[in-house]
Amino acid sequence: MPRSKKEKINKQPLHALRGMRDILPDEWEYWDYFIKKAETLAKNYGYRFLETPVLEDTSLFIRGTGVDTDIVEKEMYSFATKGGDNVSLRPEGTPGIVRAYIENGMNVWPHPVKVYYLGPMFRYERPQAGRYRQFHHFGFEAIGEESPILDVQIIQLTWKILESIGLKGLSIQINSIGCAVCRKAYRKLLIDYYEAEKNRLCQDCRRRFVRNPLRLLDCKEEKCMRLAALAPQTIDHLCQECHDHFKSVLEYLDELELPYTLNPRLVRGLDYYTRTVFEIWSQGEENFRGSLAGGGRYDDLVEILGGSSTPAIGSAIGIERVIEELKVQEIRPSVSPQPKVFLVQLGELARKKSLKLFSELIEAGIQAAESFSKHSIKSQLKLADKLGAKIALILGQKEALDETIIIRDMKSGMQEIVNFKKVIKELKKRIK
Ligand code: HAM
Repeated sequence: MPRSKKEKINKQPLHALRGMRDILPDEWEYWDYFIKKAETLAKNYGYRFLETPVLEDTSLFIRGTGVDTDIVEKEMYSFATKGGDNVSLRPEGTPGIVRAYIENGMNVWPHPVKVYYLGPMFRYERPQAGRYRQFHHFGFEAIGEESPILDVQIIQLTWKILESIGLKGLSIQINSIGCAVCRKAYRKLLIDYYEAEKNRLCQDCRRRFVRNPLRLLDCKEEKCMRLAALAPQTIDHLCQECHDHFKSVLEYLDELELPYTLNPRLVRGLDYYTRTVFEIWSQGEENFRGSLAGGGRYDDLVEILGGSSTPAIGSAIGIERVIEELKVQEIRPSVSPQPKVFLVQLGELARKKSLKLFSELIEAGIQAAESFSKHSIKSQLKLADKLGAKIALILGQKEALDETIIIRDMKSGMQEIVNFKKVIKELKKRIK
């Protein structure tokens, strides 16, 4: 926008929004380490990448995530566009994936359709350690299979990813919250139990009591936790089919020797879950620092969003929390490879020739670094040393005119002049 001459320019520094942060290059080393391991494992398990938009129709989350969830009730970044559409930044990935599955006719693909995704999610929560307003999920969904074996494979994959980056002391928390049929009777039991205790609940739970009584079970307030400990448990009130399904899940987990804890208070904060729900925690309940990952079955969601009845299950890993845990456990990712060659240049003609040579080095697969902005040879050699380069290529004004270049061994200081055109061949001989 053009400024009038008189308008004062505001010179106050700007900040990232609360609960949102920059990922600086040093931090990215951790991200890169996690993402590479996670993608390799997801692909090995037959998952393929699916990207969905960050912005979706608000009704997708109202119908998908659920109108009675904290996420939809209080935490969405929603707004009307200039065209009058009501849209929201995605607070989670699952509804978008299911929308894409329906919209792109994936129901005719071989089932289960297995996809993974990676990207930012947005929730207007109160920021604190491990809780951001923009955070990232590495998630996967398997659509079109009811067998408990898939529940266990999803848990196993989530577990393996976290284990593969070196995390220790993890625990799998698991529960079954039944299907729409058995949950109806259970819900009534729960309401009867809490009815007499209503006044002892925290403010949030009093509100949840009316709309979503299951959420009372996983409230973290001391007084609510005491009440939840004595509340009826979902697994004692499952219908036969849900009971058998969950029994098989636990048997398969035993078979794989995956350590799990049956957690009757785990209900998860999203409305679409049916049957198996799980989380992976960084420590036992005593040192709970928040879940690193969570997921579960959502056998009704495809139908709720307009597709035909299709069972599904998925999981999402919170990348920020995983990286914080890596730091707590003092696990350092392997750092980016050191450059083998550092290109030093002096003078205008040399700089021009270096620009081309640098791209040729990269094309030849030689790990190289440069500092075109530095002008003294001394400062460039100092940087080469700092970066751990084995060889410095020195191109001064004389060499640029002579069509030669100096190859310097950084350790011994020995220098050799070679023909400029033969430098890559010479380097290949020396590096190997
Ligand atoms: P969720 O439990 O809401 O599940 O999120 C998964 C993970 O994201 C959590 O375990 C946690 O590590 C991380 N997370 C959640 N909220 C925040 C936050 N505000 N700041 C930082 N990290 C956070 C889901 O979103 C489901 N869509 C998972 C799923 C996939 N279920 C089936 N398929």
